[in-house]
Amino acid sequence: MAVSPKIAPSMLSSDFANLAAEAKRMIDLGANWLHMDIMDCTKPLACFILTPLLFPLQDGHFVPNLTIGAPVIKSLRKHTNAYLDCHLMVTNPMDYVEGMAKAGASGFTFHVEVAKENWQELVEKIKSSGMRPGVALKPGTPVEEVYPLVEGKTPVEMVLVMTVEPGFGGQKFMPNMMDKVRALRHKYPTLDIEVDGGLGPSTIDAAAAAGANCIVAGSSVFGAPEPGDVISLLRATVEKAQPIIN
Ligand code: DX5
Ligand code: ZN
Repeated sequence: MAVSPKIAPSMLSSDFANLAAEAKRMIDLGANWLHMDIMDCTKPLACFILTPLLFPLQDGHFVPNLTIGAPVIKSLRKHTNAYLDCHLMVTNPMDYVEGMAKAGASGFTFHVEVAKENWQELVEKIKSSGMRPGVALKPGTPVEEVYPLVEGKTPVEMVLVMTVEPGFGGQKFMPNMMDKVRALRHKYPTLDIEVDGGLGPSTIDAAAAAGANCIVAGSSVFGAPEPGDVISLLRATVEKAQPIIN
């Protein structure tokens, strides 16, 4: 295949109290990128009113979790030159572009669900800030919604297909998301296509055969006795795959 494998351990599964050491360990073990999950607590106004009424146990965030932000990226950047593949699970990605760029993010992947109106402006801002733009889609979002962004005047350079509901590591891979990956690979033979959620030795065959080349893996890497073996296996499987693109 024309695209190269990028194995991206998800630092969400690392020991956050030792982030610099964990990052170095992953790169030393052969990781290409470090996947950084940024989740926020920005809410649309309606959520303040409706969410407590409709979902008393939820808070209306883009995802029901809170992780790291630009200050942590900035601190980590002082310890590594690695490509920081930042996945923004936030309600207002535009608000984060400048801060993430200054902090040293390499890739900035936003969710299409929250950028329907302003994606073109957002992509341009990400690019002009010196980061690589990507777009992510949740399991319930049809793949067609990202086509205009890949074909835009200033296009995104990666599509991230979520293979779990965003929010947490350690969830079960959704094999039916491979239809989206196949459709993207068929349409865009040289596009970087990333899969995120539940990837590991038992699911990589399906993802690689469908055409994914950027592989995020959190619990399967950090939970393994030999994380380097998992990274090598993921890469070898992507390298060998002959994507089914019909
Ligand atoms: C989930 C995150 C993922 C997560 C993946 O919202 O986007 O990056 O860390 O973790 P695993 O590989 O454990 O499913
Ligand atoms: Zn992620």
